[in-house]
Order: sequence, then structure tokens, then C-alpha cells
Amino acid sequence: MSYVLVTGGAGYIGSHACKALAKAGYTPVVFDNLVYGHEWAVQWGPFERGDLADETRLNEVFARYDFAAVMHFAAYAYVGESVGEPGKYYRNNVAGTLNLLDAMRRHGVNKIVFSSTCATYGEAEVIPIPETHAQQPINPYGASKLMVERILKDYDSAYGLRFVALRYFNAAGADPDGEIGEDHEPETHLIPLVLDAAAGVRDSIMINGTDYDTPDGTCIRDYIHVTDLANAHLLALQALLRGEQSRAYNLGNGKGYSIRELIEVAASVTGKEIPVQYGPRRPGDAPALAGDAAVISRELGWQPTLGALETIIETAWKWHMKKLKVSSEKVES
Ligand SMILES: NC(=O)c1ccc[n+]([C@@H]2O[C@H](COP(=O)([O-])OP(=O)(O)OC[C@H]3O[C@@H](n4cnc5c(N)ncnc54)[C@H](O)[C@@H]3O)[C@@H](O)[C@H]2O)c1
Repeated sequence: MSYVLVTGGAGYIGSHACKALAKAGYTPVVFDNLVYGHEWAVQWGPFERGDLADETRLNEVFARYDFAAVMHFAAYAYVGESVGEPGKYYRNNVAGTLNLLDAMRRHGVNKIVFSSTCATYGEAEVIPIPETHAQQPINPYGASKLMVERILKDYDSAYGLRFVALRYFNAAGADPDGEIGEDHEPETHLIPLVLDAAAGVRDSIMINGTDYDTPDGTCIRDYIHVTDLANAHLLALQALLRGEQSRAYNLGNGKGYSIRELIEVAASVTGKEIPVQYGPRRPGDAPALAGDAAVISRELGWQPTLGALETIIETAWKWHMKKLKVSSEKVES
């Protein structure tokens, strides 16, 4: 049985990756400090609670299992917060990753799939963005991820560490079986906030910025289903295990939707009215982002199967209703 260390595996994307790993016959070992993750989301292998800052704890976990590779999701990922508190982001995302990489070296593990982001590109000069696009992040979050990409390249040259950096666009949707889904606190991602407004849990959804240089003035984003994302991690892992070289891939559907378009689709999928309010732009937000994933399709055979925005919102809505039911039952009991 092959063990894979999944840092941040109690979080949103990491837990979906654990499910995909287990389905493919691997045992995911989750390493997470639960700062944002949930113990209930660890369902497919052992849970080792710990923080990337804790070298001793990392050593213990690496000594306990014979890992074939690492999938590294653990990070802070709030763009707005990173603008106000950059040190927090560089410490956790960059210094934390260095601790992880050094633990890998000490224990002879030399393959890693890394959660990078479209935020490493900054403002897009062409859309959909290819991997060769200049990387000029416009917020500390994106900069912290770009620094890690650079560190990975240097560790590859110096120590033979092999990596796949996956630059995802906006992860969205939920496990089609309804077992896991997005549950962030605080929630800043658009789809769950829109669904809260559809469910009447919040009064309205705030659109930040209506004067961007886009057809309807609101930001454009590319939404990728979290299960398609999890499957791409599996393909990346298998490529590394076959001995392939390090590289970076985009993961998006290649098509962007404006916030207004997304709200319209959500209203149609849920059959609910979604009240909207308008506010100022948020610092650090790029006007339009959509990613070209042709390279990973060609090289690793990745094909999104749940990419339609309707499907993304349907799975998210099913999960959202389940989550709201569980929390209202908790309040009643
Ligand atoms: N959600 C997106 O749309 C998106 C897009 C691009 C990239 N990413 C990246 O994907 C990864 C996962 O994102 P997510 O949306 O699942 O976030 P998440 O917050 O749900 O998951 C991150 C997990 O990491 C854990 N964690 C954070 N710091 C840690 C530390 N120091 N030690 C141990 N555990 C720690 C958290 O408790 C959480 O469970 C992140 O690296 C994020 O930057 C996400």
C-alpha cells in the first residue's frame, strides 16, 4: 500500500484529493493543524494533526510512514487578508513550505504536487492564460505561491526534488456523492456566498466593483470543479511516480464567467431569487482570469468531466443544503 502525505488534507480541495487518492488505491495521510480544516473531512486515511511550522512533528510523521510522495495543499489563501497581513502569508506559505521540503529531504521523499494558483500571474495580458504568461502577482498571497514555485525549481536543481505545480483557477463545487464540500470560516468564495443568499441565510450577495474593464463591469473568473481538480492531482502524482520531470500546469476550464453571469446561473439552478448589493473594488483583485489547461490535457490526459457551470453549482447547492440542515439540527439539539 502506497502512502501519500496530504498537507491541508482536512481542507476543501485536500479532502477531495484524499477521496480520489483512496479510490485509486493510495492511502492518504492527512497532516493539518485544523486552523481552517475539519476533522470530519478526514475520511480516507490516518489523520496526523500538526503544523508546518513544527519541525519535530513533521519529523515524527515522516518517520512513521514510508511516503511515496507529498501533496501540499496547506496554506493561507485569503487574497484580501494577505494584502493587510503579508507577514502571515509569507511565514505560513513560504517558510512553512521550506520546513516541509527540508523534512522531505531528511526522510528521502523527493516527489511533491504543489497547490499553486492563477494569482501568480497577476493581471492577465491574454485570456485564456497559458503557462508561459508572465508571472507578476499583484497580492502577497500570489507572491507567496510564486516564491514556492521558485524554491521548488531550486530544490529540483540542487537536490533532485521532482514537483508538479498546479496553478488552479477558482476551485468550486462539491463531491458529486455529497460526502464532502466547501466549508470555510470565514467564507470568501463567491459560490457559497451566492448560495447563502439563495438559501436566505444572508440577505444579499455583495458585488465588489462594477467598473472593471469587462463586458458587464464585474470581475471574470474561471471555475473548475473540485473533483476535476482532485483527479488532476492524481494524474500529476502518477506522472511523478513514473519518473517524469518537474513542471507547472494550469488547471481551469478555459472559459471565464462574470460575477453577474454566475449569479444568474445560480438563480436558475436553485430556482431562488438572489438579491444583490454593490460595493467598491477589493484590493488585490484582478479584473479577469481564465486559464488555458491544454498542456495538462495533452501531456497527462486530464479532461474535466464536471466543468459546466450548472454542474458546478448543482453539486455545490446539494452540499450547501446538507450543510445548512446539519447546522440547523445542531442549533435545535
Ligand atoms: N480554493 C481555491 O479556489 C484555490 C485556488 C488556487 C489555489 N488554491 C490553493 O489550494 C490549497 C487548498 O485550498 P483550499 O481552498 O482547500 O483551502 P482550505 O483552507 O480549505 O485548506 C487549507 C488547509 O490547510 C490547513 N493549514 C493551513 N496552514 C497550515 C499549517 N501551517 N499547518 C498545517 N495545516 C495548515 C488548513 O487547516 C486547511 O485545512 C491552498 O494552498 C490554496 O492556496 C486554492
